[in-house]
Amino acid sequence: MRRLLVTGGAGFIGSNFVHFLVERTDVHVTVLDKLTYAASPEALEGLPSDRVELVVGDITDAGLLDELVGRLTGEGDAVVHYAAESHNDNSLRDPSPFVRTNIVGTFEVLEAVRRHGVRLHHISTDEVYGDLELDDPERFTEATAYQPSSPYSASKAGADHLVRAWVRSFGVAATLSNCSNNYGPWQHVEKFIPRQITNLLDGGRVKLYGSGANVRDWIHADDHSSAVWTILERGEIGQTYLIGADGERSNLQVVRLILELLGHDPDDFDQVADRPGHDLRYAIDSTRLRTELGWEPTYGAFEEGLARTIEWYAEHGDWWRPKKAQIEAAYAAKGQ
Ligand code: NAD
Ligand code: TYD
Repeated sequence: MRRLLVTGGAGFIGSNFVHFLVERTDVHVTVLDKLTYAASPEALEGLPSDRVELVVGDITDAGLLDELVGRLTGEGDAVVHYAAESHNDNSLRDPSPFVRTNIVGTFEVLEAVRRHGVRLHHISTDEVYGDLELDDPERFTEATAYQPSSPYSASKAGADHLVRAWVRSFGVAATLSNCSNNYGPWQHVEKFIPRQITNLLDGGRVKLYGSGANVRDWIHADDHSSAVWTILERGEIGQTYLIGADGERSNLQVVRLILELLGHDPDDFDQVADRPGHDLRYAIDSTRLRTELGWEPTYGAFEEGLARTIEWYAEHGDWWRPKKAQIEAAYAAKGQ
């Protein structure tokens, strides 16, 4: 049976990919996840034990990686590397786990796949490219120069550079993808969309950074998963693919929509302290992935997906409510 090692497979996007694999393929999945505060092992509950195994451990643990990667001996076996510290605001408070996990951890993943001659797909973000002007006619492409702004995006950029160097210098068989902002079930309540939904569900208020003019290019996590599978199946080794679904919306548009969908006045939100160094706009041109590999997003319009995501959070209070108070206290301490 074909085997994949999915690092960070208990996180928001990694767990979505594990579900995709179980539902749409016949591969065996080993998840390697440290189960940090950001993990949702609940998202993996109920998956068949003959298809999915969870190993709790750290990607900076070279010995553990060596053992797990050493099991990937079959045709088509691969490591899919999602594990990361992923929240910009946290990286501004304490960058150290970002450097350790995102850079040192990726180095250890690379060394393990190099030793064992195993294929790697490295998951990254469009934030490595810095930001665009609101009226910039060009979106990010695979040729855009790296210009990260935050400790988070700089650590992801560092990881991407390591992967590219290991491909060129050591012949590691790796592909990379840089995706835009994801939304959907199981996203931690510290992130923009779940934070606003859960604030409203608990009688709190929506918190918009600054004027809300900042634009993000939203894609449902299901579409991210199908794109990663497409790259694993048909991607060219050494190549980078940008993943996006033409979902640009300003933060102001998103909060107004969430307020409307939950039956509130769309202007009833708080403007709070802006994020230092806040990137203005991200936008993805995913032409290469679409034309060369034939991938298309299928999830549907952002507005419909957002409505379904709100329903999901309304039904999963048992999961997010225990995390909520601590996150809101940390934001409140920063005037956010
Ligand atoms: P997440 O924070 O929800 O999940 C990260 C997972 O990695 C968690 O389960 C955590 O326990 C695990 N992890 C963290 N440090 C680890 C370590 N040292 N060893 C093993 N496991 C560790 O993140 P996410 O939003 O699901 O993002 C997953 C990946 O996708 C990241 O690489 C991120 O940079 C990338 N990405 C995210 C987005 C987005 O919108 N969230 C967009 C593009 C790319
Ligand atoms: P976030 O989900 O942190 O993703 P990223 O920083 O990776 O884009 O934030 C998305 C956008 O929402 C970003 O422009 C910051 C903004 N934001 C708010 O306006 N209010 C909030 O409470 C949060 C968490 C984010």
